[in-house]
Amino acid sequence: MTDLVLKNKKIIISAGASGIGWATAKVCLSKGAYVYLCDIDDKHLKKIKKNPLLNKKLFIYKCDASSETQVINFFNKVKKKTKKIDSLINNVGIAGPTGTIEKLNSHDWERTLKINVISHFYFTKLAIPMLKKNKGGSIINISSGAGILGFPLRSPYAASKWAVIGMTKTLAMELGKFKIRVNAICPGTIKGDRMVRVIKDKSKFLKISKSKIEKDFISMASMNCWIYEEDIAKMCSFLISNDSERVSGQTIPVDGNATRLD
Ligand SMILES: NC(=O)c1ccc[n+]([C@@H]2O[C@H](COP(=O)([O-])OP(=O)(O)OC[C@H]3O[C@@H](n4cnc5c(N)ncnc54)[C@H](O)[C@@H]3O)[C@@H](O)[C@H]2O)c1
Repeated sequence: MTDLVLKNKKIIISAGASGIGWATAKVCLSKGAYVYLCDIDDKHLKKIKKNPLLNKKLFIYKCDASSETQVINFFNKVKKKTKKIDSLINNVGIAGPTGTIEKLNSHDWERTLKINVISHFYFTKLAIPMLKKNKGGSIINISSGAGILGFPLRSPYAASKWAVIGMTKTLAMELGKFKIRVNAICPGTIKGDRMVRVIKDKSKFLKISKSKIEKDFISMASMNCWIYEEDIAKMCSFLISNDSERVSGQTIPVDGNATRLD
């Protein structure tokens, strides 16, 4: 039997054309939802155009999440399809630069904060009226293990992901009276393209082999395992569904119990 726990729920996902965002879009579609996603990358957008639900339940748009003008245009297009939404998933986030703080430059620091934090502001500001129209809903902010722990060599990323937690806790308090729930998910080390890049950069900076760095990342979780994009997608599905109707203001790690990040 198909589990249609998100039947006809309307969900916006930022940076949704690959990785965690696309895995989440697929899980939500399989549970009966409508998905409106945007992404900056033509190659990723082209790939997902093959999905049979395109223009029926899946709507995709090109948008740089760090440009307020482009986010406004994206919302204007979504509003032609639906006036209310059940959920916003603030998924966009880049890894940022790798290095000790003396070696990093302010341009990379500012870019990381712009994409990982300020973009969420653009999306959230425009989503709130649509959630209010819906008489409630769920905002999910994708933070990271680096939003709970320190993360050597990745200071701008860690700062941005702790900021996401502060935003989550504050918004949950501001929006509770409107039955809008706000939670943060903190993914652990995800098997996928992003970690391939992160491991390569760390290996280059520390001059240690990629396989040693990879093993070390996996060992940070008590469960000694990779986390998969689908693990995050399933947690998103739970937080959108009515099964979590009184869960708000929470920081939820999905990380096999990561006890360190170094
Ligand atoms: N992958 C991990 O190990 C991991 C761990 C913890 C947290 N996270 C967080 O999860 C979220 C998703 O991560 P991921 O690994 O799927 O990311 P990813 O690096 O695989 O990128 C996902 C998508 O983001 C899009 N994107 C990048 N910049 C954009 C922009 N300015 N505007 C619109 N789209 C943009 C890319 O085109 C891509 O399709 C991020 O916030 C990330 O920080 C990831």
